[in-house]
Amino acid sequence: MNVLVIGSGGREHALIWKIKQSPLVKKIFCAPGNAGIAQLAECVHIEPDQIENFLKFAVSHRIDLTVVGPEVPLVSGIVDQFQQKKLKIFGPSKEAARLEGSKVFAKEFMRRHSIPTANFQVYTEMKRAMHFFKVLKKDNYPVVIKADGLAAGKGVVICHSLEEAQRTLEEMIEKKIFKESGAQVVIEECLKGEEVSILAISDGEDFVLLDSAQDHKRIFDDDLGPNTGGMGAYSPTPFVSKSLLREIASTIIEPTITGMHEEGHPFKGVLYAGLMLTQEGPFVLEFNARFGDPETEVVLPRLKSDLVPVFLASCDGDLSEVRLEWDKRVCLCVVMSSGGYPGEYETGKEIAGLNLVEDKKNAIIFHAGTKQVDGKIVTAGGRVLGVTSLGKNIEEAIENAYSLVDKITFDKCFFRRDIGAKGLAKSLQKPGRSHVSNF
Ligand code: AMP
Ligand code: GLY
Repeated sequence: MNVLVIGSGGREHALIWKIKQSPLVKKIFCAPGNAGIAQLAECVHIEPDQIENFLKFAVSHRIDLTVVGPEVPLVSGIVDQFQQKKLKIFGPSKEAARLEGSKVFAKEFMRRHSIPTANFQVYTEMKRAMHFFKVLKKDNYPVVIKADGLAAGKGVVICHSLEEAQRTLEEMIEKKIFKESGAQVVIEECLKGEEVSILAISDGEDFVLLDSAQDHKRIFDDDLGPNTGGMGAYSPTPFVSKSLLREIASTIIEPTITGMHEEGHPFKGVLYAGLMLTQEGPFVLEFNARFGDPETEVVLPRLKSDLVPVFLASCDGDLSEVRLEWDKRVCLCVVMSSGGYPGEYETGKEIAGLNLVEDKKNAIIFHAGTKQVDGKIVTAGGRVLGVTSLGKNIEEAIENAYSLVDKITFDKCFFRRDIGAKGLAKSLQKPGRSHVSNF
């Protein structure tokens, strides 16, 4: 098979690393790719929003399967356009991708199908939205304001005061900093608990669960500072026991897949549920219609089964017989980023030390924002590398990954020192007390 992967991050590097291991695959193309991906696949200069160009490329290069990494082409309807031309593509249709593309749609869908999520209201007018806050008591803060549409991970603000809420609403509704994405906003209660990511692959009716992962979204240690795309992750997480995973499947994943099918928009592809484990059980914070980044970098190295037949089964509506096998070890990824990210940062910094870690046992260096210039690998984005390692437990995975991180460097490099720390603390807790201390 010829496979095309769309995207350029650590997630796409991990996908290609895994797809490359499939005996079904002859050649992989990636658009636009990065310096790490270029070692495994032929990189092509097409940007994720150029759907017409992808169609032409898929036809001219006899692509047997296209796998879409980022949300933007999915929400724009790339899957529908490929299917019209009878080209095989893994991912949800435009209508199904609204679970990620419109938070108003996702929240109202969850309300219709009794899927646990924070209480919410939808507003389109500044005056009405402000009225909500004016009558709100001080001890009801924080409150979460979300732009309806895609906002590159910046559309969620946790507001601690009336002033902050007013500023956020002005920016979204009046100044339109997220353009039409902020024309509607969701105002919702702030949930407390541990955040985890559960991904499922669906064919529109059946689904298989991937093993659990925990991302670290804030930029600084101890979950401080602004949200990022994700600064590191590990899998599996001890916050999700086998019985909790079953509960998540039956109260969240199954009703979502069934509900989308019933509403006439079957969800094929990856359903990513970002969950808060509250005292009342797991609640959905958000749905994504794609693989997570960096969750993919820690889930796929643990997947023993070939992923390509799973993609094909999802496309063909044939997932009911698919079972996945997992490596029992823990996989952990530390994201090395450009100083300043998620704000402004510089690029073009030469990355040193990659040669020192390439051959290390259990080391996988997933590239995110990198490119090759004059034979050197330089930084080209906010998140630069996903330094990934396996270990027999969380402690060993942490030790292994950070021993690799310590060998790699570039000017103004920044990373968190505590990836996996919460998971490690949880795994060391005595059984029986496990529920109490997280809240
Ligand atoms: P989202 O883009 O919806 O994933 O939101 C980004 C991040 O905001 C989440 O990963 C959470 O850390 C946080 N968040 C979103 N909704 C809530 C909520 N209702 N309560 C607490 N935190 C939230
Ligand atoms: N890791 C968060 C995301 O992929 O959206």
